[in-house]
Amino acid sequence: MPPGCCSFWALWLPLMLAVAAAKEHGEACSARKCGNTTISHPFWLPVWDTGRSCGSPEFEVSCRDNGTTPILLNSGAISLGFVIINIFYEEHSLHVVDRGKLELLHASSSCGLPMWNTSVKLGPRSWFRIAPVNMNLILYNCTKAAGAAALAQDRELVQTRMRCGDESEVFARAGGRYYETTDYGGGHEGCDAAVMPVLGTWAGEVNASDYERLISDGFLLTWQSPPTGNFTRQIKSSFHQRSWQTRTGRAFAWISLIRPSYQSWHSLIEDKAIDPKSSLVMANQR
Ligand SMILES: *[C@@H]1O[C@H](CO)[C@@H](O)[C@H](O)[C@H]1NC(C)=O
Ligand SMILES: *[C@@H]1O[C@H](CO)[C@@H](O)[C@H](O)[C@H]1NC(C)=O
Ligand SMILES: *[C@@H]1O[C@H](CO)[C@@H](O)[C@H](O)[C@H]1NC(C)=O
Ligand SMILES: *[C@@H]1O[C@H](CO)[C@@H](O)[C@H](O)[C@H]1NC(C)=O
Ligand SMILES: *[C@@H]1O[C@H](CO)[C@@H](O)[C@H](O)[C@H]1NC(C)=O
Ligand SMILES: *[C@@H]1O[C@H](CO)[C@@H](O)[C@H](O)[C@H]1NC(C)=O
Repeated sequence: MPPGCCSFWALWLPLMLAVAAAKEHGEACSARKCGNTTISHPFWLPVWDTGRSCGSPEFEVSCRDNGTTPILLNSGAISLGFVIINIFYEEHSLHVVDRGKLELLHASSSCGLPMWNTSVKLGPRSWFRIAPVNMNLILYNCTKAAGAAALAQDRELVQTRMRCGDESEVFARAGGRYYETTDYGGGHEGCDAAVMPVLGTWAGEVNASDYERLISDGFLLTWQSPPTGNFTRQIKSSFHQRSWQTRTGRAFAWISLIRPSYQSWHSLIEDKAIDPKSSLVMANQR
């Protein structure tokens, strides 16, 4: 990386953005397929060649892996988004897998990977809500010494293979129904806890030893429909908006009130192939 890159990117950290031509507002795009999943209102896939966006930014879906994997980017969030396994339009619910946790699971080392509560990723004003049917899986990131102490003290803790060298290790623990649990087995000193929803068995059982399968199997989200029609108005309520003139029309950036991580910002940039020139314009707008 060239020197100066990081301060340049640092400028960007608090920006969440959606760039599009001005004419876009309000029209729903027609339903399209991504892999086996039909993406239709309120979800939408951007049409990059026309620069059209067709809905609320929180419902934007990115079709990855050569057009086979739909990802809910969830623009108000500090995350890599969620892989969509299925959308149940009538029930207003969707089955998703947390990409950040998958990355943690598959990384050879957890050094530098953040571990967030899933609810934090959705943000406080989200149209999405973790479904009450989910169970809790609690992950503890502990220093080596704290981990040994926690393991001796809490027999429900399971050691995982997620670790950062000799520095820290991650433990898992089952924690009852998602909204019914307030006791997370006591905080363990020297450990950071992150709560994530998992589906568990039909009987509502979670065995933390199965943490890999539980994380990969995902969980259910429900959604509230955003108002149809004028998306501009709704976006303005939860984001600071900036707009500027470009060669092709008017572009908009929404600065989230929540700080996105470097990672999610970076993936947004990659995703949308933003012209660095318009990025500079955005930096000047701040
Ligand atoms: C789509 O469904 C078919 C048949 O159920 C399955 O074989 C295939 O793997 C699925 N593709 C994706 C991308 O999920
Ligand atoms: C993507 O899909 C196209 C068409 O099905 C195929 O020719 C190409 O090899 C695929 N690329 C990758 C990286 O899978
Ligand atoms: C656990 O903590 C260590 C040290 O603070 C950090 O480097 C690592 O990224 C953390 N891992 C996770 C999964 O949060
Ligand atoms: C995650 O949730 C637990 C339980 O509600 C809470 O104690 C903890 O502070 C949360 N952590 C973050 C980073 O929000
Ligand atoms: C959880 O799974 C492990 C390994 O499969 C098994 O040894 C253990 O008995 C299970 N625990 C419960 C409470 O079922
Ligand atoms: C949407 O709302 C904005 C702000 O209130 C307004 O300026 C714009 O004209 C509206 N657009 C439509 C299509 O109603």
